[in-house]
Amino acid sequence: RKGKTPEEVVKKYLQKVKSPPEEDCTICMEPLGGPSGYKGPGVGPVSRAESVGRLAQCGHQYHFQCLVAMYNNGNKDGSLQCPTCKTIYGVKTGNQPAGKMEYHVIPHSLPGHPDCKTIRIIYNIPPGIQGPEHPNPGKPYTARGFPRHCYLPDSEKGRKVLRLLLVAWDRRLIFSVGTSSTTGESDTVIWNEVHHKTEFGSNLTGHGFPDPGHLDNVLEELRAQGITEDDVLVE
Ligand code: APR
Ligand code: ZN
Repeated sequence: RKGKTPEEVVKKYLQKVKSPPEEDCTICMEPLGGPSGYKGPGVGPVSRAESVGRLAQCGHQYHFQCLVAMYNNGNKDGSLQCPTCKTIYGVKTGNQPAGKMEYHVIPHSLPGHPDCKTIRIIYNIPPGIQGPEHPNPGKPYTARGFPRHCYLPDSEKGRKVLRLLLVAWDRRLIFSVGTSSTTGESDTVIWNEVHHKTEFGSNLTGHGFPDPGHLDNVLEELRAQGITEDDVLVE
């Protein structure tokens, strides 16, 4: 997509390691001093110099080929996430299927937020056919419970969360295709790792209000996807 090979993408985020530590690579569980335990399609010989690399920001070390294999197993968007500490290199994107995100303010207050109105987000995703970035390419996926309505307080922090959710939507990180943990159905559209409140006036499901920690939790979940207030300022 970016015109870079997987090897070039991985190399961009690595520093050279002169002498590998006497530790195992936590991707393949083989010693860093020896060859990568990953044997798969497209694994060619690597030069000694690039056999182990240190991720530039977090410092965790892996076999070069193990990182390339990990990258190839993802959606190959030019980003890489450290499997140990989850530090993100580049811009992480997901495999959310095509659809629509809308929002508006409704003149009611949420339990626990008596002093402000409410933002209602409406997600609509129709069923479709899985692409190469999905678990079963070519197979259909279902989409249950859409449009899904979600609620945020229309407070300063709630609006901040909304701005970051819009970035997450553009990066295809709000939904995914997989197996629903609620229904057990496979090949269906499911929430990704950012929690939403889908219940308005009560909290019978655990996905409603009041929930004093909710906005901070969502900000933390967005951060884990690589989305912070910095992303809003530049976009
Ligand atoms: N509202 C908000 N979040 C939910 C809900 C819900 N009703 N049910 C589950 N989640 C959260 C879970 O806590 C989990 O973190 O979504 C994440 C993924 O759960 P799955 O059950 O795999 O997700 P999915 O099948 O998409 O959702 C189940 O959520 O919005 C509703 O209509 C939707 O009934 C469906 C339910
Ligand atoms: Zn390895």
